[in-house]
Order: sequence, then C-alpha cells, then structure tokens
Amino acid sequence: MYKKSLGAIFLLIFFLSYSHNLKYEPDWSSLDKRPLPKWYDDAKIGIFIHWGVFAVPGFRSEWFWWDWKGDNPTQDVVDFMKKNYPPNFAYADFAPEFKAEFFNPQQWASVFNASGAKYVVLTSKHHEGYTLWPSEYSWNWNSNDVGPHRDLVGDLADAIRKNTSLRFGLYHSLYEWFNPLYLSDKNQSFTKQDFVNYKILPSLHQIVNKYKPEVIWSDGDWDAPYSYWNSTEFIAWLYNESPVKETVVVNDRWGYGVMCNHGDFYTCQDNYNPGKLIEHKWENCMPLDKASWGFRRNLKLGDVLTIEEVITSLVETISCGGNILINIGPTKEGSIPPIFEERLRQMGDWLSINGEAIYETKPWRVQNDTKNSDVWYTTNGKTVYAILLKYPYKSLKVELGAPKSTEATQIDILGYNQSIQWIDSPETGLIIDLQNVDTSLIKSKWAWTFKLSNVA
Ligand SMILES: *[C@@H]1O[C@H](CO)[C@@H](O)[C@H](O)[C@H]1NC(C)=O
Ligand SMILES: *[C@@H]1O[C@H](CO)[C@@H](O)[C@H](O)[C@H]1NC(C)=O
Ligand SMILES: *[C@@H]1O[C@H](CO)[C@@H](O)[C@H](O)[C@H]1NC(C)=O
Ligand SMILES: *[C@@H]1O[C@H](CO)[C@@H](O)[C@H](O)[C@H]1NC(C)=O
Ligand SMILES: *[C@@H]1O[C@H](CO)[C@@H](O)[C@H](O)[C@H]1NC(C)=O
Ligand SMILES: *[C@@H]1O[C@H](CO)[C@@H](O)[C@H](O)[C@H]1NC(C)=O
Repeated sequence: MYKKSLGAIFLLIFFLSYSHNLKYEPDWSSLDKRPLPKWYDDAKIGIFIHWGVFAVPGFRSEWFWWDWKGDNPTQDVVDFMKKNYPPNFAYADFAPEFKAEFFNPQQWASVFNASGAKYVVLTSKHHEGYTLWPSEYSWNWNSNDVGPHRDLVGDLADAIRKNTSLRFGLYHSLYEWFNPLYLSDKNQSFTKQDFVNYKILPSLHQIVNKYKPEVIWSDGDWDAPYSYWNSTEFIAWLYNESPVKETVVVNDRWGYGVMCNHGDFYTCQDNYNPGKLIEHKWENCMPLDKASWGFRRNLKLGDVLTIEEVITSLVETISCGGNILINIGPTKEGSIPPIFEERLRQMGDWLSINGEAIYETKPWRVQNDTKNSDVWYTTNGKTVYAILLKYPYKSLKVELGAPKSTEATQIDILGYNQSIQWIDSPETGLIIDLQNVDTSLIKSKWAWTFKLSNVA
C-alpha cells in the first residue's frame, strides 16, 4: 500500500513536470496541437452581445460609421445623417449619448442564465475602436471617459460570475476602421507594426489579465497577415502563461487565410451552418435580428428570427458538432429589447425539457435522418436522440431511416411521461406511431426529442 502510493506520487511528479514543460510555440503547427478545453464542447450554447456607440444612431447596423464615412458610403446612411444631424456632426459626437443609464448587469445575467446558454461573449471593442472598458490605450474613446462613465466589461463579468455559472468571454476587433496608427501601418503594407505594438497587444494582454475571459473571439483581422497582428505570439502566451491558460478558447479570425484553418474553434463565416459533420470544433454565430448584430431603432418584428427558426438552427448546429452563439444587440440605454429577451427565455424553456439531448452530447454516426429531413441526431455515447423539427399532425407517424432497433430498444419523448408505440421490420423500417399520443400532455413546444435507448 505504502509502496503503491509512493509510486503514484512519483508518477504524479513526473506528469506535473512533464506537462509544465509542454510549452506551445508561436506557430500554428504547435498551437493547433492544443486539446480543446472540455467545457466549451459541453456548453453548446452561448450568447453574443454586440454593444457600442453604434447603438446610438441605432440604424442599419454596427457598421454604421463605415457605411457613412468609409470607402463606399451607403446612401441610406448618408441620407439619414443629412436629414437628422447638423452638417459638422461627427461620429464621435454620438458617444456622449451612449449612457447605458438602465444597464443592470444582474438582470442581464439572469436573462442569459434563463436562456439555457452556458457562456457569454461581449464586444469589448468593435471596429469603431470604442472600448467598453476603461482603456488608457483608447484615450477619450472608452466607456469610462465618455458615455456611461462605467466599466461595462467589468460590471457584466462580475454579475455573470457572481449570479450564474456561465463562462464569460470577450469579442475583440483587431482592426479599427479609422485609427490613424492602423491606417499608417496599412499604408506601408503592414511592414511596420506600430498599431499592433502600441495598441493591440497591450490591450489584449490587459483585458485577459484584468477580466480573465475564457473565450477570445477575435475579428477584424482580414486586411493583414497574422504575422502583422503577432497572433501566434499572443495565442502562445494565452495558452502558456495567461491566467486563463487552462480553460481559454479562441476562434479562428487572426489574420487573412487563418479563418477556418486554425484556432480552438472555427467560425468560417457569419451564420455558418454547414448541415454536415465538421470534424474540427466549430461555432455558428447567428444574430436574432436577421439584418444586424447591433441594435436598430427601426427593428421590425418580421426581422427577428422566430423561436422555431432559432431552435432549428440550434439543433442542426449541435447535430453537426458545432456550438451556437446567439447574438443580441442591446440599446444605448443598456436594456435588452424585450423581443430578444422573449426569444432567449423561450429557448431556455425548450432546453429545460430537451437539454438532455443537447448539452455534453456528441454528433451521432448520422446527422440528419435518411428518410425524414425534419429529424436531426445527437448522442451521449449510449442513448441516441432524434430531434423532430415538425410535428406530423396529419400523418401522426414518424419514419426513421437511420436507427436500427434491437430487442432492448425503448423509445420515449422528452417531457412526455406516457409510453410510445413503434414498429421496426425489414419491410417497414422504424415507424413511431403517434396516434395514441396526447399532445396536450407533451411539455415540449417547437421541437420534440425522441430518446432512443438501445438502438444501433
Ligand atoms: C439559472 O438557471 C437555472 C436553470 O434554469 C436555474 O435553476 C437557476 O436558479 C438560475 N440561476 C439564477 C441565479 O438565476
Ligand atoms: C446576484 O447575486 C448577488 C450576490 O450574490 C445577490 O445579492 C443578488 O440578489 C443576485 N441577484 C440576482 C438578480 O439574482
Ligand atoms: C500613404 O503614404 C503615401 C506615400 O508615402 C503618403 O503620401 C500618404 O499621405 C499616406 N497616406 C496615409 C493615409 O497615411
Ligand atoms: C511582435 O512580433 C515581432 C516580430 O516577431 C516582434 O519583433 C515584436 O516584439 C512583437 N511585439 C510584441 C509587443 O510582442
Ligand atoms: C441533410 O441536411 C442537409 C443540409 O440541410 C441536406 O443537404 C441533406 O440533403 C440532408 N440529408 C438528408 C438525407 O435529408
Ligand atoms: C404524467 O403527466 C401528467 C401531466 O403532467 C400527470 O397528470 C400524470 O400523473 C403523469 N403520469 C405519470 C405516470 O407520472
């Protein structure tokens, strides 16, 4: 007994020193070897928050400034400014109106918790350059100096961590449309890195050390190569030395050509939902407002995804090995538009019944059924979950082409406590008979999970 535990201790010391020496090098071949922290794959669902000065005009999208003053101005934005603001009004003049006077981070935290999401990603800085934390690298263009006079990042991080078990992450845009330092580097074909050395890297280190985000969601990378952004050096630091080195995950937007090729999870494009199994971990980021990530004051009900559309995307994404990051745009006052809150709470209601088929699951050998295009699969390794997106109110039967029953097969509907009848034979295939199912006793709305125990 004594010898055995001594052996175990030596083994432990060996592993500890071994793992201590496991340093990641600042190149993709080394960084790509890092195992994905388990929490991220288990979590499946996150909330994305696009918030910034763009919420003040609240028109068109978070790209408002670029659409107004960028290379190819958009007519509706130009007209909007001409019609509603004096001629010398600058984008920076919007910032004092970004007051966030109703921002209640605990209330946000309780909405996100109720949604069933397991992590939150907030825009610490979008392409406009305004930071939601007090940044000395963004003088007079941060939430402490102008606007709310408050550390929005810190206050939300605290509320999320105090009141929920959700993980906290940060979005960060590398480029800034109109930053003179950036434009000057760009003008020299990125052969100098003043913007990166004096602004971006110090900022990234600061937000990691200060807020300990467990997701770094990078963006705005596409103009320049990753060598300009020092991306691999930064990620090696994140993995080797940062205070979140054990649990942090990063996306794939770290310089042109990197997206969909490197990173803990791939985003590939906005609204990425490939409909087939992707071997590398990936994430579908998807706004509830189909037209914008940031808040729009002229948002119409028809612009917002229905709960059926949200759950369809969620189910397809999880079946194919992805996570889903559902975006909301809060107002300049710091409120979450009630239509977004409703969608999030509806999702939470659905997950409170069907979460067993979502959280901590893996893709099955088949993603969508071969006979029934409204059925998508997940598995926990033992049980198979067949999630039905449209209830067959007319035929009252569900034919499944992929699972094969065994002698021990049992079929249940999550959130329904009566037994389910089914047959399986070489002639018919597997058919679930819903004629005797009392739909008024089914708790689930919007999509229904068949729990298939002991199928092949
Ligand atoms: C978070 O949500 C879970 C599941 O719905 C619930 O049990 C819990 O009470 C909530 N916690 C807070 C702090 O709202
Ligand atoms: C959040 O947590 C704090 C401290 O634990 C508690 O006082 C407060 O009531 C909680 N608020 C909500 C909305 O759960
Ligand atoms: C870019 O460089 C050219 C030539 O050096 C210079 O004339 C021009 O003003 C520069 N533009 C910017 C935006 O720095
Ligand atoms: C960025 O990378 C370059 C080239 O490897 C290096 O000279 C520079 O010191 C790095 N900057 C920072 C802030 O680490
Ligand atoms: C599965 O879904 C994909 C994407 O929606 C579709 O292209 C494919 O036809 C579906 N497969 C079957 C067998 O229905
Ligand atoms: C099944 O659920 C219904 C409705 O919630 C309830 O009335 C009934 O007692 C439950 N039956 C069993 C066997 O648990």
